[in-house]
Amino acid sequence: MNSILRNRATALCRALSTSGVRQCAMPPKRPKKQFIPITWKSMGVTAVVAGGLTGFMLYIRKEKQEAIDRERKKQLGKAKIGGEFELVDSEGKLVKSTDFLGKWLLIYFGFTHCPDICPDELEKLAEVVNMHDNTPTAPPLQPIFISVDPHRDTPELVGKYCKEFSPRLLGLTGTQDQVAKACKSYRVYFSAGPQDVDNDYIVDHTIIIYLVNPDGEFVDYYGQNRNASEIHNSMLVNIQKYAAGKKPSWF
Ligand code: NI
Repeated sequence: MNSILRNRATALCRALSTSGVRQCAMPPKRPKKQFIPITWKSMGVTAVVAGGLTGFMLYIRKEKQEAIDRERKKQLGKAKIGGEFELVDSEGKLVKSTDFLGKWLLIYFGFTHCPDICPDELEKLAEVVNMHDNTPTAPPLQPIFISVDPHRDTPELVGKYCKEFSPRLLGLTGTQDQVAKACKSYRVYFSAGPQDVDNDYIVDHTIIIYLVNPDGEFVDYYGQNRNASEIHNSMLVNIQKYAAGKKPSWF
């Protein structure tokens, strides 16, 4: 009897020891608490704070950019640059500004006898057009040269002149009246200087490349100080903005 009880007790003790109950009765030595400077919790808190700050800064930056854009748009809007025009191409065919709806336009006003500035600007314009054409998914773009010297710049002359810079460049001229009207809508100043002994003269004119969107609205302008890649980059931004504005609001 005694031996049976003893055996049972031993068996129970063995079972308890293997099940780990004894371990609970005698807690194991706790490992020394180590100093951990970065805990998951602190990292989490830091991440949340940093994330919040970054988000806030991005928000501020976006607000600032939007304010700049609004101000620029307001200034551009005030100037009321751009509008409809009717001119003639190198074949003497009537060309209307509405013919270009659906295309982006880069418009430059100048004259074929211009000694230096117009050739430089048109070379730059041709470079921008190349950059644009080499950009995948680039929307249709029409570069246009408009003469401010219709007296000398006949349709054929303008056509030949433009081909020297780019086969893509469309040259337009017209009657004194048509040219004056186109210049007026783009706020382009032009004034023919005195003639020299060879009846040659210089036409003083605004040196600006205008960017017009596919709705025929003026969006941006580039002065002589902007190089081809700067203009191309600005165009990309404007093209993206335009595309974003065309998406439905729930998109
Ligand atoms: Ni010029």
